[in-house]
Amino acid sequence: MILLVVGAAPGALAAPEVARELSEAGCHVEVILDTETRRFVGPAAFAGNAQVVERPGEDLEAVVFAPATTATLARLAHNLGEESAAEAYSARDRPVFIAPDLDAATAAHPAVEENLRLLGEDGYRILAGSERGLASASEVVAEVLGGLGGPLSGLRIVVTAGGTREPIDSVRFVGNRSSGKMGVAIAREARRRGAKVSLVVANIEVVEPGVEWFAVETVDEMRRGVISLVEDADVLVMAAAVSDFKPASLVENKIRRGAGLTVEFVATDDILKDVRGRNPGLFMVGFAATHGDPVPDAREKLARKGVNLVVGNDISKKGIGFGAEENEVFIVGDGGERFFPRASKQEIARAILDALATEMNVERQD
Ligand code: CTP
Repeated sequence: MILLVVGAAPGALAAPEVARELSEAGCHVEVILDTETRRFVGPAAFAGNAQVVERPGEDLEAVVFAPATTATLARLAHNLGEESAAEAYSARDRPVFIAPDLDAATAAHPAVEENLRLLGEDGYRILAGSERGLASASEVVAEVLGGLGGPLSGLRIVVTAGGTREPIDSVRFVGNRSSGKMGVAIAREARRRGAKVSLVVANIEVVEPGVEWFAVETVDEMRRGVISLVEDADVLVMAAAVSDFKPASLVENKIRRGAGLTVEFVATDDILKDVRGRNPGLFMVGFAATHGDPVPDAREKLARKGVNLVVGNDISKKGIGFGAEENEVFIVGDGGERFFPRASKQEIARAILDALATEMNVERQD
């Protein structure tokens, strides 16, 4: 059980979202709201995702102060008695996460800086957002789940997401419709299960808290990034839609309309195949987006690319795959295939990581 202690600060409005995301990740959440906090957010906002309690239950795994007020920081840093029931439960034998809600002036106050320093020294995990304000709900959740030692802790995972673009001239490119949602969902879920995650993203705008982020544009940039990152990784998940072709030559300026345009393409390097050649022991997951039954194509790619699992989907079906919020996949390995019917990409990410953990013999701890 995770105890969420919500302080009386404007950031309290984000606390129900923290509870919801933790609960969706499979955690049992209990919430302490003191009287002052109830001016910002009431128990009803947590309904369905957490239990609002006076005193937490026995099976406490971690305490999360979000938002933590300056008074809470001071009390925890200096052991100033047990003002509220919650602080009594922040004993050091379990992880305590503190997400302060500070404006820039308060954050720069020497007493507050000193308290944060002391808390850091004492092993509390401080989660500050940009400009030292409250971290976002997703940032808090990523840190908490990552810090709890989930079933994938100790694993380093590189995930690719998005679609590569190959320039034709200084303004035009050949690209594809990948939104990057599937890869980002896998990165988020892997982080939540405790893995250390590096995400190589091609041409997508979203930012996923808690993961290392490398932006690339072309196949060659992605290939170089992946090759260097997997050197000390255990797993590569190639969810990106990688261009199969690139223009044979690049025109530096903008091609004028009057000049006409015929582009000759050449095949790009196969990143998965290349990485397998260099890293025989790496666990690799590839994707196969196919018109019609994806299983034969996935099987062929499993063998040709030397990967451990291939996730296949039928892109002729409406509402799944490229750009959509949902997906429907077959996960194909040496031992056979399993079908996962239409579900959110987050659900499908969970299925992919379950399959990966089973194949790698990583035992779930929950
Ligand atoms: N992939 C890759 N390098 C490439 C192209 C694709 O590593 N140059 C990866 C993709 O990220 C995906 C898998 O390979 O995980 C399958 O991609 P796909 O384009 O379907 O594979 P191709 O080898 O191009 O096969 P096809 O003959 O179907 O085009």
